[in-house]
Amino acid sequence: MEIPEHIAIIMDGNGRWARQNGLPRFAGHQEGVNTVRRIVRECSRLQIRYLTLYAFSSENWHRPEQEVQALMSLLDTYLASEISLLQQNDIRLNVIGDLTRLPTHLREKVEDKVRQTRGNSSMTLTLALSYGARDEMLRAVRSVCTDAVAGVIDPADLDERMFSTYLDTVAMPDPDILIRTSGEQRISNFLLWQIAYTELFFCPCFWPEFGLDHLDSILKEYQNRCRRFGRVSNETFPQ
Ligand code: IPE
Ligand code: IPE
Ligand code: MG
Repeated sequence: MEIPEHIAIIMDGNGRWARQNGLPRFAGHQEGVNTVRRIVRECSRLQIRYLTLYAFSSENWHRPEQEVQALMSLLDTYLASEISLLQQNDIRLNVIGDLTRLPTHLREKVEDKVRQTRGNSSMTLTLALSYGARDEMLRAVRSVCTDAVAGVIDPADLDERMFSTYLDTVAMPDPDILIRTSGEQRISNFLLWQIAYTELFFCPCFWPEFGLDHLDSILKEYQNRCRRFGRVSNETFPQ
């Protein structure tokens, strides 16, 4: 079986799962953390090199303050409780997004865990926190302009490869698979540059319900997809 190198997930539907079960939205987010644990462990077992999880978008700051605070405190506890799982499984923690918007104590905690796991190399777990693809690209363009004005780079040399090095995802391959749970079929400002040729999977179940069986059937379907990258497939038109 061809194992994808990089899986990205838009973890959606915590709130609807909670409502369906007569629970407050926060309970849905808590249950969502259990799914994160399950999926991180499974991807590590399957030797997936990169797993990227959309945890909090730049637009999610517009949610009611109580919910934003609840999500921040959940992140806080997740970081504290998961460090041993990351260390045991040789998983490096990485973050993308505008961390300057996070509360200072949380940002320091995140940076600390990134530092602590820096030497791990089996899998890179990237959390997209306060992340928006448009914001990421704007920050990249600003840095490119700054470097051009300073004479560090020549604008004529700017190509796709060089531009990629200014993005938060520097040194990561583009996702092979993007999964979104909850039945919504949109990207919601996630990795717009990086998913140019990513295979998309929309799963109707809510994130708290997403299990190893769902992941397994997506991986099986991925085997049958023909990725052409704009070229002509050898299978369809043998040389
Ligand atoms: C995803 O679940 C988690 C975050 C966006 C932080 P939602 O909170 O969006 O759940 P729904 O979409 O309202 O059901
Ligand atoms: C996308 O989900 C963001 C995360 C999963 C973190 P949203 O629930 O915020 O997206 P929309 O509002 O349905 O597009
Ligand atoms: Mg949602």
